Amino acid sequence: MSSPDQRPTQPPPPSEGGQVFVGHGKLILFGEHGVVHGRPALAAAVAQGVTLRARQRSDARASMLRVQPWGLALDLGGPPPADAGAQQLFRALKVAREMAGEGPELVMDAEVSVPGGAGMGSSAALGVAVLRAFDHSRCIERDDEAQAARALHWEKVFHGNPSGVDNTMAACGGMAVFTRGEALRRLHPPHALRLLVGHSGQASSTREMVASVARQFEEEPTRVTPLFEAMRECVESATAAIENGATAFLGPLMARNHELLRQLSLSTPALDEMCDAASAAGALGAKVTGAGGGGCMIALVDGEDAAHRVRATLAQLDKQVFDVETDR
Ligand code: MEV
Repeated sequence: MSSPDQRPTQPPPPSEGGQVFVGHGKLILFGEHGVVHGRPALAAAVAQGVTLRARQRSDARASMLRVQPWGLALDLGGPPPADAGAQQLFRALKVAREMAGEGPELVMDAEVSVPGGAGMGSSAALGVAVLRAFDHSRCIERDDEAQAARALHWEKVFHGNPSGVDNTMAACGGMAVFTRGEALRRLHPPHALRLLVGHSGQASSTREMVASVARQFEEEPTRVTPLFEAMRECVESATAAIENGATAFLGPLMARNHELLRQLSLSTPALDEMCDAASAAGALGAKVTGAGGGGCMIALVDGEDAAHRVRATLAQLDKQVFDVETDR
């Protein structure tokens, strides 16, 4: 790596050409938080995610990562950035560079098309894309599961004790049941699910929410254990419904899972209001997705009319809404 006095005063221009690498965004449909404590979660990769273009850095200095639309430019040859969020990403990039081992330095330009901090797995998607770029530059081929396992180290920088579901979906795509320490169970649903993702506008920290649930579990295991078990039942019933194309059964299961998350103080008045409004407007079901405590909810819709009504209702509440189709 270069010494600081060798640093260029101008970063290289955005990379053109080079290879493109992707990481999928994801949504947790059922079982978030229970999955940290050994229960299954049902998750789906989404079409949106991270696209990263990488080329070798011709001046052979340290690797660089630029991220749009976050407006971040990180250079491992320079000092860590001042901003706390950028600092975390800088540390994660360092972890990825160390894991890559000997080989060329890269200039990487990433485009993130899922909202950050919204439970849609943006950090994991970015991590997978970065690791794939480093591997490619070293002529290393790895299967998706192996890449997912490596991306867990990246995720730990952001989330402390992640279950591994985000990095697994980011690498593997599709729809699957993930259980910590077990092989991924891929689902093959007969059709994709149509979801609307509503952002509460409230920031949420996965690290803090996971720590809060761990605290509740430690202090009140007899209250919390049945909630985790009920989450497992939601995942099992939803898996059967999805595999049989019985989408209508998912609505009540989403309401049930949302209630379980509420009992762990993971919803907020804004998220409750959004879920209620989406259901009243014709969604089959709605729930918090991801870490909760802010961030996003999802509404499952059947058909364009329902999607239009739910979108309009959430927009009336002044919430940002994204259309998402699950990967199959
Ligand atoms: C975050 O996307 C999902 C959580 O279950 C945390 C995790 O699984 O690491 C809240």
